[in-house]
Amino acid sequence: MKTETQLELLDRIMAHRASGRDQDNTDVAPSSLSIQTGEYTDRVRYEAELDLLSRHPQLVGLSGLVPEPGSYASVQVGRVPVLVTRADDRQVRAMANVCRHRGAQVVEGCGSIQRLRCPYHGWTYHLDGSPAGRRRDRYFDDIDPVGLVELPCRERDGLIWVAGDQGAEIADQPLHGAEIEVAPFDLARYRRIATTRFRRPLNWKLAVDTFCEAYHVGSLHAESLDPLIHSDFALFDSFGPHGRMIAVRRSIGELDRLPRLQWRLVPHATILWFVQPNTVLIYQQDHAELYRSRPGDRPGDAVLDVELYAPSDDHRSERYWQRNFEVLVSVTDNEDFTTAAGMQTGFEAGVIDTVTIGRNEPALQHFHVGLDALLSTPKQG
Ligand code: FES
Ligand SMILES: [Fe+2]
Repeated sequence: MKTETQLELLDRIMAHRASGRDQDNTDVAPSSLSIQTGEYTDRVRYEAELDLLSRHPQLVGLSGLVPEPGSYASVQVGRVPVLVTRADDRQVRAMANVCRHRGAQVVEGCGSIQRLRCPYHGWTYHLDGSPAGRRRDRYFDDIDPVGLVELPCRERDGLIWVAGDQGAEIADQPLHGAEIEVAPFDLARYRRIATTRFRRPLNWKLAVDTFCEAYHVGSLHAESLDPLIHSDFALFDSFGPHGRMIAVRRSIGELDRLPRLQWRLVPHATILWFVQPNTVLIYQQDHAELYRSRPGDRPGDAVLDVELYAPSDDHRSERYWQRNFEVLVSVTDNEDFTTAAGMQTGFEAGVIDTVTIGRNEPALQHFHVGLDALLSTPKQG
């Protein structure tokens, strides 16, 4: 993030800090917003969201997901099992992780390999998805071997985007202009250090919701995060359907002793982009976190993939990062997801029809309004 941008954002934060108790001291939306609890429980809505996630471009990882030629990783994009590779030409590609023989998933997890090899009958593919070999080739007399089904994919500013629909287009600026502030972080040089998957009894959107406001920090995270992060002074800016929220660390007070031109935002903030439809990218001081949430088997079932990336020239030990990652995910799981699972139980009990998103939760409002807009956009082609 450029220094001028950091200073402009800090000016806004400082204005919030200077506000009296009876004034707004955080970025606000014009009004509060009611949403139907059915959005978290309704089966028709759930299917529509799965359709959207299957066709709309998604941020699936940082470039470090497939760091070098020979790297591959499997990811789920809505209903579509996807395989992401980086071939010898260094280009990132995505293809359906569905073998052209009889449909088995060609790879699981991630790694580095010369040829992709389907575990079922051993057909092989090059990393660009083209066919490499067919065991007992003479038994397949009808057609030439075919490659894996290629899917739209784009790597930009250290981020990898994939769509599960062959006909989808990934825009040149999929972050809708936030590229300009993400690019200086040089995320392309980050490596993936740790990853985990949660499956929890909550709607997939609740896992995104919890990242889209800092309001809850002072209460839900009173013991864990509140000593470090303010509940107030948060900033929100929209980038098309996406948004960026900045939560302010208590260390911000250190800037009071410095002239404005020496101020820097990054050490004193958690910078979070929620990227429609289902990804949250968080930049913190010395690392980046990626959260990808998706529907499981029913509206009240979410699968969440969490990844931690750090600059490749950071030489702190694996143990250091693993420990940090464990603390990070345990707060999120024990506090946020436990609360969200309780919310899901209440929604499914049908006791209340609506919930309210306050004026002080503008990012969360934008996530829901933006998602609704995407859901009502007719499918292309
Ligand atoms: S399904 Fe892949 S080789 Fe048979
Ligand atoms: Fe939280």
